[in-house]
Amino acid sequence: MVGFLVNEYELMSIALSRQLREGTQKSHTMAENTGFISCFLKGVVDKSSYRNLLADFYFVYSAMEDEIKRLSENNHSIVSKIDFHELYRREKIEKDLYFYFGQNWSTLLKPSEPAQAYVDRIHQISNEQPELLIGHHYSRYIGDLSGGQLLKKITQKAMNLSGDDGLNFYIFDQIKDEKAFKNVYRSTLDSLPISPHMATLIVEEANKAFKFNMDIFNELEGNLIAAIGKILFRFLTRSSRKGSTE
Ligand code: HEM
Repeated sequence: MVGFLVNEYELMSIALSRQLREGTQKSHTMAENTGFISCFLKGVVDKSSYRNLLADFYFVYSAMEDEIKRLSENNHSIVSKIDFHELYRREKIEKDLYFYFGQNWSTLLKPSEPAQAYVDRIHQISNEQPELLIGHHYSRYIGDLSGGQLLKKITQKAMNLSGDDGLNFYIFDQIKDEKAFKNVYRSTLDSLPISPHMATLIVEEANKAFKFNMDIFNELEGNLIAAIGKILFRFLTRSSRKGSTE
């Protein structure tokens, strides 16, 4: 009987990485198509929106890493398995925040409303159903590893940065081969002893993670439009002054 249960879990968990990939594909396309990300991918990013995005990420990753660390230290049988320290982003983001906000960065930050809701959700599930953290972990870290290098180049060019200053978020210096790491990550997911029902809940939670990210992007899009509007207004009023005969 015990053997049967183990096999049942194994059979199901073979599919978790695939369930996550396939079950979040639609959300992924939606996230890529948000106004903010579309602008970002075209290299239209203003420094203020970008640093606010990093500030929101600081709160999100801090919550995620605090909870994963706490659960691992308490030997949580599932969450401890995905506690890959080489993925941690908090310290990297701190370096970037220092670069963008200056040395008082920590006194200047406040999460946006959607970021606060994201953080609250992370704490809530960590207390009530910690396995669901996997959905958040997968969505952010595997996304960072996948699209990250492309985004690093875009950020570097858009903000005219040289070297790695302001780009630490994208750097995984302990991961030499991203593809090999993702394979290890996927086989770890696939060997977790979770029930089919729990797998479904984790995929649902991963979609929630995408939704929280989109809410952050949409909020930033408003700021970006305002910033573009200001530049356009300055440009137009300057041109009309130049053209004026007064
Ligand atoms: C900025 C726009 C984005 C770009 C250009 C992008 C790019 C990519 C690419 C190229 C891959 C495939 C990598 C591969 O086949 O190994 C990928 C996968 C992934 N992305 Fe994104 N992405 C973006 C936004 C996001 C967002 C907002 C999230 C979630 C918050 C996310 C989460 C993921 C995840 C979890 C995967 C792994 C899918 C799998 O299981 O194989 N991405 N992304």
